[in-house]
Amino acid sequence: MVKVLYIDCCIRREESRTRLLAETFLSGLQSQKGYSVEKLCLMDENLAPLSEGFFTQREVLLLDDQRDHPRFRYAHQFRQADRLVVAAPFWDLSFPALLKLYIENICVEGITFGANEQGTFGLCKAERLLFLTTRGGNYNNSPLEMGARYLEALCEFWGIPRFDVVAADGLDLGKEPVQTILDRAMEEVLSLVDNF
Ligand SMILES: Cc1cc2nc3c(=O)[nH]c(=O)nc-3n(C[C@H](O)[C@H](O)[C@H](O)COP(=O)(O)O)c2cc1C
Repeated sequence: MVKVLYIDCCIRREESRTRLLAETFLSGLQSQKGYSVEKLCLMDENLAPLSEGFFTQREVLLLDDQRDHPRFRYAHQFRQADRLVVAAPFWDLSFPALLKLYIENICVEGITFGANEQGTFGLCKAERLLFLTTRGGNYNNSPLEMGARYLEALCEFWGIPRFDVVAADGLDLGKEPVQTILDRAMEEVLSLVDNF
């Protein structure tokens, strides 16, 4: 069974167009045999930033090699997934801070990445990560787009060889009907279901 971890950062929940892309992908995937999907809804988690006591606790635990501490559960879950699906809207040229909080919590030396004299190396099991997003403007191939590009760089850091992104661009521009843009993105999303 291929273990898929779906990380939902679609802040607007049922209103979210990004979530529509994720649900399209996951229902396509679940109609195939051999995949089990675990969902992590970031809006339901009480994620904290690395600051003050929460930061210090982490330093102490890592020094003591206590990587089985419950606060590292997100990092272990992420590391063990065979495939990753991340859904988040485009906010402020990137993605919501909630997703960054999650990333801060899963980047743990000795769990999701390692380090030696040569530098860092990834420790994650996943063969690929699919990022699903929707954007108000058109940022496809724009140097101002920092969300997908950052996640792609993180995949290299975590040791995940393949990164794909499906983005529905220009949803708030009014140039093309929203449904037309979403339909196109959903078609693209479904084309990635086979052999995921
Ligand atoms: C807080 C916030 C910040 C946003 N920042 C941008 C932005 O920088 N560029 C852009 O093109 N659209 C921006 N948008 C528009 C969203 O990217 C767009 O509406 C997207 O489809 C929302 O996704 P959702 O329907 O999944 O919530 C922003 C929307 C919000 C609520």
